This record gives sequence, structure tokens and C-alpha cells, in this order.
Amino acid sequence: MRLERVAALVPAGARLADIGSDHGYLPVALLRRGTISAAVAGEVAMTPFHSAERTVRENGFEAQISVRLANGLAAIKPDDGISAISICGMGGETIRDILDSGKAHLNGHERLILQPNGGEQPLRLWLMENGYRIVCEELLRENRFDYEIIVAERDGPVLYSAEELYFGPLQMQARTPAFLRKWQHRLSQKQKTLSQFSRAREAVPQEKVQDVARQARWILELLA
Ligand SMILES: C[S@@+](CC[C@H](N)C(=O)[O-])C[C@H]1O[C@@H](n2cnc3c(N)ncnc32)[C@H](O)[C@@H]1O
Repeated sequence: MRLERVAALVPAGARLADIGSDHGYLPVALLRRGTISAAVAGEVAMTPFHSAERTVRENGFEAQISVRLANGLAAIKPDDGISAISICGMGGETIRDILDSGKAHLNGHERLILQPNGGEQPLRLWLMENGYRIVCEELLRENRFDYEIIVAERDGPVLYSAEELYFGPLQMQARTPAFLRKWQHRLSQKQKTLSQFSRAREAVPQEKVQDVARQARWILELLA
């Protein structure tokens, strides 16, 4: 379901770079459906790289999908004409670092479809600081995990508040039941943490306490 939702956000006719493709399921499924015209499947590790090669070969897509062993966006070559990049199933900080260290491989016209496992706030901060507007956000729950999908396009300067970076600017407006459930759950975790801090034998640094207290206050305000 997670990759299905990502797939639905890839524009029709796109030339996709799927970075950290692992088994290569996403580009292969999109080509089988005729949604995309070509793809690059990038992998940094040998075992998933071979796994992606096998999936592509078994589906007869060697001419349309280039599987490349490369670190992050280095899998993309200038003449690939990439129009969409997916980076899914990694921590938000890892996705941010891949984007940041691979800036030279971005042409600025690609749609970014990102599915972080946590670390959404630093990822959104990077997007804002690099002129990307968040054009779509989704939250889904699968196997008791909350997954976020963030779609962004470069669009000149954008400014998000600290709360928008924390909760997601579009999710804050949409307030879906899944979103409210996620933050109700997070609130009880923060409150538990704060009560553990107050009972701790050794004093917890004030900065840490204040940070968690601020997050709990933001969530309370959001849910009010
Ligand atoms: C958990 S898997 C996710 C696979 C798939 N994208 C998905 O969402 O189901 C993460 C994959 O990213 C790859 N990866 C991690 N860092 C990478 C990097 N810097 N460049 C390319 N691939 C990377 C890992 O080798 C691993 O196969």
C-alpha cells in the first residue's frame, strides 16, 4: 500500500529516477502499467542492486530501466532527462543528505516524491531552504506504522513556520482522521517522556525538557 500510494503520485509519462530502489519494484510496476516512459533504478548496495537487475531482466525492461550502482543522485546522468525522483523507505535525514550531497545532479524541474520513515521535519526544512514547495502530503498507516509521503517541486522561495515544518503544512490544513490519530498518539508519548524526565534520578538537561515540552504544547494546540 505504501509503494502504491507513492506510485500514484508519479506523473504520467515521467522519466523516473528511483533512488534506493532495492528490489526495483516501483519502476517495474510503473512501466508495466505504462505510467512512466523510462527509469533509472539507483542502488548503493550490491545485494539490492543485483535484486533490481533481476526484477528488470525478468520483466524484459532492460531497454527502459537502467539499473545503476551509485551513491544517491549520482545514479542520474544529465542526458537521462529525469522528470521525477522517488526516494522512499529511508529516514528523513538520510533522504535530506542524499538530496543535499547530490544537488549537482538536480535540474530543478523534477518532481520529488519522498517517503521518509521518520525525520520529516529536517527533510521539510531542507526543501524550504532549497526553494521546494510541498505540493502534496499523505499519511498512511500500514502494519502499525505511520508513513508520510511528501511531494515537492522547486518553485522559488517558500516560507514555512516552525509548526508547519513539524506537522506538514498541507496535513495541518487537511486534518485527516489518520493525521489526528497520529498526533494524539505522539502527544501521549511526549507526556509520558515528560513525566519520566520529572522522575529521573539524574537531572535531565533543561534544553531537552523544554524541547519536548514545546512539542507537546504544539500538539495540544493542534488538537484543540
Ligand atoms: C529500506 S530500502 C527501501 C526500498 C524501496 N525504496 C522501498 O521504499 O521499498 C532502502 C534502500 O535504500 C538503499 N540506499 C540507502 N542509502 C542509499 C544511497 N545513498 N544511495 C542509493 N541507495 C541507498 C539501501 O541499500 C536500500 O536498498
